[in-house]
Amino acid sequence: MSAPAWQAAALPEGAERRRLLAAASAVLDDFFAALDERGVSPSLATGEIRARLSRHDFAAPRPLAAIIDDVGELLRAGLVQVAHPRYFGLFNPTPLFPAIVADLLSAGFNPQLAAYSHAPAAVEIERHVIDYVSGLVGHPAATRAGHFTSSGSEANATGLLLALTRRFPLFATDGVRGLPAQPVFYTSADSHLSWLKIAHQCGLGRRAVRLIAVDGAGRLDITALAAAVAADRAAGLAPVLVAATAGTTGAGIIDPLPALAQLCARERLHLHADAAWAGAAVFSDRLRPALAGLEAADSVTLDAHKWLAVPLGAGMFLCPSGAGLHETFHVTTGYMPAKAEEDYYTRSWLWGRRFMGLKLFLALATLGRPGYAALLEYQAALGETLRERLRSAGWQVVNDTPYPLVCFVDPCGADSAAVAQAVVASGRAWLSTTRFLGRTVLRACITSFLTTAADVEILVAALDAARAEGQRTCQGSVSGLAPLSSP
Ligand SMILES: Cc1ncc(COP(=O)(O)O)c(C=O)c1O
Repeated sequence: MSAPAWQAAALPEGAERRRLLAAASAVLDDFFAALDERGVSPSLATGEIRARLSRHDFAAPRPLAAIIDDVGELLRAGLVQVAHPRYFGLFNPTPLFPAIVADLLSAGFNPQLAAYSHAPAAVEIERHVIDYVSGLVGHPAATRAGHFTSSGSEANATGLLLALTRRFPLFATDGVRGLPAQPVFYTSADSHLSWLKIAHQCGLGRRAVRLIAVDGAGRLDITALAAAVAADRAAGLAPVLVAATAGTTGAGIIDPLPALAQLCARERLHLHADAAWAGAAVFSDRLRPALAGLEAADSVTLDAHKWLAVPLGAGMFLCPSGAGLHETFHVTTGYMPAKAEEDYYTRSWLWGRRFMGLKLFLALATLGRPGYAALLEYQAALGETLRERLRSAGWQVVNDTPYPLVCFVDPCGADSAAVAQAVVASGRAWLSTTRFLGRTVLRACITSFLTTAADVEILVAALDAARAEGQRTCQGSVSGLAPLSSP
C-alpha cells in the first residue's frame, strides 16, 4: 500500500527530496545569475500579485515543484530587490551565500534554542560567535555576555528592560506603577524610532522617550541632554537610560560615545549603544576608530542582518557584563527542562526561537575576519567614490560619516523626493529620501557587496537625468526656489 499523499508531501522520499531541493536552489540560482539584468523595483502591481495568489485556493494539494516556480516568479517580480547591486537602500544587504545555506540548515534541523539541553551544539555555536563579536567590541572576556535577537528592535528593547530592572528591582514584579517615580529615557531625535514602540511595549508610554535635539552635524547634543536630565530630575522623574546611536538610520551619524559614557557614569544612567548597522565596523581595524567609546556602553545592539550581510533577522545584544539578565528574564516552569540558568529563555526576551546565529557563524567561518574586514572596507571606499562622484556632478553632500551612507541635495533646489521617485521609477537604481537637519535630502547607502564603481556611475547618471527632467517640468524656474543653507 502506498503512503497517503499528505505523507509524501510532508517529507518526500530521497530522490524526490533531492529533486525538489534542486528546484528550489535553481530558483535562487537564476535569481542571482540574472540579478544585474533585472530592474531593482517591483514590476508586478498589487492587483496582479493578488490575482496570481487567488489561484492558490488551498482546496486541493498541488505539487511543490509547481508552487516553487509560482513563488519564484512572484518574488522575482514582486519585490524591491534588496540584493541588487543598485539598491542603494535601507541597510538591507545582499545576503552572503554561506549565510543563505545556514538558514536552510537551520530550517531543516530546526533546533530549539530555548533550553540548552535541547540544542547544546546550536547554543554553543551561538555562544562562540557572540563571544567573538563581543571581543571585537571590546568587552572583557571574563564577564561579557549577550545573545542573538530576532531584530535590532528586540536588542534595543532588551537594553531598556535590563536597565529598568537593574535600577529598580521592583519593576520586575510590580511594573512601572510600583516605582517611586516615572522612568524616562533619552535618545536623539535622529535615532531609530523603534524606541517609541519599545517605550510603549515596556509599559513606560511613548512620552517617556525624550527625543533630544541634534547638533549641527546630526549628533545627539550633549548640552541639551544634560539639561533634559536635570529638568527631569527636578520634576521628580527618574532618568534611567541614554540610547546613543552609532550610525543613524537616516545619515550614518555617530553620537559622541566617549562624552556620553562620561555623562552616563556621572549621572548613573545606563548607556545603550544602538550600533545596529555601523557596529559591523568593529570587524575592520581601519573602520573601527570612528566607533571609539562603543566598548564603554553598558549594552550594544549590533545587527548581523545589516552591514554584516546575513539574511534577516539576526540581531545581537551584547554587554560587558551579564549582570541583571537573569533578573530581567528569569522564569521557572514545570514543563521546561532543568538547568534554567544556562537557558536562553531565562536570559532573553524570546522563548522558542530559531537558530539565528548559524548565519553569522557560517559567514564568519567562510570569509574569516580578514574577508569580512575587506568586504566592509570595499563598501566604505565605494561610499567615498559615491561622495566624490556626486560632488563632481554638482550635488551637495550634507552628512559627515566615514561609513558608506551619503545624504545629498541639489544646491539649485531640485525637489529631493521628486528626484528619488524618478530614479526609482526608472528601474535603474533604488534610493530614498530622509529628513536631515531640518530638510528632506536624498539618501544613498552602499548596502550591497556586489555594488561596483560602474553601478555608482549608473546611479549618478539616473540622478542627473531626474534632476534635468525636474528642471524641465519646472520650466527652468529653479531660481525661484528658496536657496538651501549649508548644514
Ligand atoms: C540604527 C537602527 N537601530 C535599530 C533598527 C531596527 O532594527 P530591526 O529592523 O532589525 O528591528 C534599525 C533599522 O534599520 C536601525 O537602523
